[in-house]
Amino acid sequence: MNLPRHVAIVMDGNGRWAKKRFLPRLVGHKFGMDALVSLIDACQARGIEALTVYAFSSENWRRPDEEVSGLMNLVLLGVARYLERLAQSGVRIHIVGDRSVVAERVRQAWAQAEARTAGNQGLQLNVAFNYGGRWDVVQACQALVRQGCPPEQVTEEALARHLSLSHVPDPDLFIRTGGELRVSNFLLWQMAYTEFYFTDCLWPDFDAAELDKALTAYALRDRRFGGVKDAAASPRA
Ligand code: IPE
Ligand code: IPE
Ligand code: MG
Repeated sequence: MNLPRHVAIVMDGNGRWAKKRFLPRLVGHKFGMDALVSLIDACQARGIEALTVYAFSSENWRRPDEEVSGLMNLVLLGVARYLERLAQSGVRIHIVGDRSVVAERVRQAWAQAEARTAGNQGLQLNVAFNYGGRWDVVQACQALVRQGCPPEQVTEEALARHLSLSHVPDPDLFIRTGGELRVSNFLLWQMAYTEFYFTDCLWPDFDAAELDKALTAYALRDRRFGGVKDAAASPRA
C-alpha cells in the first residue's frame, strides 16, 4: 500500500465529544490527548515518518480563560505522564509555533520534551502549538529580512528553509476530524499539494482503525502535482 511519509492532523471535536457525554470540555481535551498518544504508536507501527498535529492554534486564545489555562495545564500533564514512554519508543519531538507568548512553565515543558528526544531517530512528531500558517510564513520572511537577504534571493526554497517544518517533507496526507471542512490556519504553505481527508469522527474517538480508513483512502488517490497521469504517453511541446 502506498503510505504517506508525513501525515498532518487537525485534532478537532474534543468539545463536542465531551458535550455528548454531559462532561466539561476539558475532559474532552484530556481524552483527546490520550487518543494522540495511541495514534503516535499506530503511526510508528505503520512506518509513517512524520506526524504533525494541531494542538493549539493562534486563534484558540479566543476561548474562555478557563479552557485556555486547562489546555496549558494539559501540556504539563502530558509531558509528565507520557514523555518518557514516547522518548523510549524513539519518537523525536519538535514544537512548532510562537513560543514567545506562552507561559514560562509551558515553554519549559516543551523544551524538556525536545531535549529528551533530540537524539531519537524514530517518528518525527511535530506539535503545532500557538501555531498559525500565516504566522509561519511571516516569521520566515522576518528571518530572511533579518539576514539581509536581497529580494532576488527570496525564493520558495529560501523561504521554505525558514518555515517551521523545514526538517520534514511537506505533508502527503491531511486529516481533519470533527466534521468541519476547513483548514483553520494550519499548514498553509506546506499543504500546496497535500491530499485532504475529512471525517465526522470526533478526535477522542479517532483510533488505529480510523487511521487505517484514512490511509486506505490516501492509497487510492492519484497525485499528479500538476502533471498528467501518463507522462510518457503525452505529446511533448
Ligand atoms: C480541538 O477540539 C482541540 C483544540 C482546539 C484545542 P475543540 O475544542 O475545537 O472541539 P470542538 O470543535 O469544540 O468540538
Ligand atoms: C483547529 O480547531 C485548531 C486545533 C485543532 C488545535 P478549531 O476548533 O479551533 O477550529 P475552528 O474554530 O472550528 O475553525
Ligand atoms: Mg473545534
